[in-house]
Amino acid sequence: MRNQTKNFRTDVEFYRKTYLSGKTPWPSDTPEKTFIKFLEKIQQQYKEKNILCVDIGCGEGRHIKMLRDLFPRSTVVGFDIIREPINSAIRKIGKTNNVLFILANAFFIPIKSESADIVVDFGVFHHIRKKDARYYKSEIDRILKRNGVFLIGVFSENFKHHPAEQRNKDFIFHRGHYDRFFTPKTLEREFTFLEKLDVCEEGAGIEFFVYGIFRKN
Ligand SMILES: C[S@@+](CC[C@H](N)C(=O)[O-])C[C@H]1O[C@@H](n2cnc3c(N)ncnc32)[C@H](O)[C@@H]1O
Repeated sequence: MRNQTKNFRTDVEFYRKTYLSGKTPWPSDTPEKTFIKFLEKIQQQYKEKNILCVDIGCGEGRHIKMLRDLFPRSTVVGFDIIREPINSAIRKIGKTNNVLFILANAFFIPIKSESADIVVDFGVFHHIRKKDARYYKSEIDRILKRNGVFLIGVFSENFKHHPAEQRNKDFIFHRGHYDRFFTPKTLEREFTFLEKLDVCEEGAGIEFFVYGIFRKN
């Protein structure tokens, strides 16, 4: 647990600097198309229900808006370890009763056990060290309701930060943070405690990601 806290601190500095620079390498407004494609398949099942959606590491809230638009009767909770993107998400989304932002850590999610219908993570799990992954996964398992779904997007092994990038491992530590890279198979292997609904790889140019949607049985 001590190492985990140490690593967590390192990443906080990296994310804060990135947000303060105003140049995040991930989009601030447009949601991931693959998430929309996955969610459209289950939309009918949840559309009219008062469900709870959770966005892990919500950043500036692009997936909060997506969840609220696709599931208008839901309550959406977004949390992040950094305050600045949360403030920016609140400014963009405005004050609404069914959206709540929390400053929190994915290793200790302040959400009741077995209460979440849909949990989304784009870009958090791939920054978690392998030895810490079990803490993250146990939190996903804990907060998901039975039949709840989990959507995740991570770096593909085919992702490159720049065209000449060479790697001989499935992770790197650079510029003060950790990146881990996946294939559809290795992502699937991480979440065998859930039922796989779909896993795919998508991207263009040098930016490829692996996406998964899983259900808790
Ligand atoms: C790559 S960004 C993606 C942001 C957002 N999910 C999106 O798709 O726009 C990763 C986000 O996760 C947050 N984050 C990283 N580690 C976290 C943790 N342990 N708990 C909560 N948030 C975390 C970062 O501050 C950052 O906002």
